[in-house]
Amino acid sequence: MKASQLWRRSALTLALSLAAVSAFAQAQTTTQPFKPEVGQPGKDVVWVPTPQALVDKMLDMAKVTPQDYVIDLGSGDGRTVITAAKRGAKAHGIEYNPDMVALSQRNAAAEGVSGKATFAKADIFTSDFSDATVITMFLLPDINMRLRPKILNLKPGTRIVSNTFTMNDWMPDETAVVGGDCVSWCTALFWVVPAKVEGTWQLPQGQLVLTQQFQMVSGTLTSGGSSNTISEGRLRGDQISFKAGGAQYTGRVNGNTMEGTASGGSAWRATRAARGGAD
Ligand SMILES: C[S@@+](CC[C@H](N)C(=O)[O-])C[C@H]1O[C@@H](n2cnc3c(N)ncnc32)[C@H](O)[C@@H]1O
Repeated sequence: MKASQLWRRSALTLALSLAAVSAFAQAQTTTQPFKPEVGQPGKDVVWVPTPQALVDKMLDMAKVTPQDYVIDLGSGDGRTVITAAKRGAKAHGIEYNPDMVALSQRNAAAEGVSGKATFAKADIFTSDFSDATVITMFLLPDINMRLRPKILNLKPGTRIVSNTFTMNDWMPDETAVVGGDCVSWCTALFWVVPAKVEGTWQLPQGQLVLTQQFQMVSGTLTSGGSSNTISEGRLRGDQISFKAGGAQYTGRVNGNTMEGTASGGSAWRATRAARGGAD
C-alpha cells in the first residue's frame, strides 16, 4: 500500500472512530434520566418545589379527605398531588413541562398511588378545573390574579390554598406559617370560594339588600317598617352570617334562596328578588 493510501485509510478510520465516540456520547446523554433543577424555566413560572412540610399544611388547611378532588395548578414534580392521593383523595396535576409530567407519573408509581394521582401536560390557562373541590397552587401574584375570575366562579365552598402568593384584595380566610426545618416558601394562604349574594332578597317580613366584597357582606335588613344596617356579614362558601337589629343570623345560600336561623332559634328564609353587580 502506498503511503498516500495508508494515510487516507488512517484518516477514514479516525473519522469513523470519532463519529462512533460522538454517537455513543449522544446516546449516553439522551438516556440520562431527566433531573429537574430548582429554578428551571416554566411556561409562566419557574419550578421551585413547595417544601413537604408546607404541602402537608396546605392539605391540612383544606381539610382534604378521600371525598375530595384536589387539582394542583402547575404541579411540578407532583408532590402535592401525590400527598393528596396518599390521603385517599382523587388528585390531578396540570403541568406544562412534559418532562415534569413524566417525572410526576414515575414518582406517583413509586409511591403506589398511580390510581389516584393523575397528571396532564397542559396549560393552566386553557384547562378546566371546575370539578375540583380543592385547588392548590404555587404560582405568582400576577398569575393568581389572571386565574382569580375563574376561581371566583368555581362552586361556592371550593377550597383554595396558595403557597405564599396572595389574591390581591381578596383577603385569605386563613393564613398559616410552618416553622421547623422550613426556611423559605413556608406560608400557606387559604380561601373558600364565596357564594354570590349581592343584590336584593325578599323575606316574608321585609327585604334584605346586600353588597358583597368577596367573602365580606354588608347592607340593610328592612323589616316591619324599620331598617337596620348589617354588621359582621361574612360568607364561608355557601354559609352566610350577619348581625342586624341586635339579632345574629346564620344560614345557607342555595342559588336563589337562603335560609337559616336567627338568634333565639327562629327560622328565616329569603328569595332573590334582584341580582347585584358582583354576579
Ligand atoms: C413554583 S412551581 C410549583 C410546583 C408545585 N406545584 C409545587 O408546589 O411543588 C410552578 C410550576 O408551574 C409550572 N407552570 C408554569 N406555567 C404553567 C402553565 N401555564 N401551565 C401549567 N404549568 C405551568 C412550572 O413548570 C412549574 O413546575
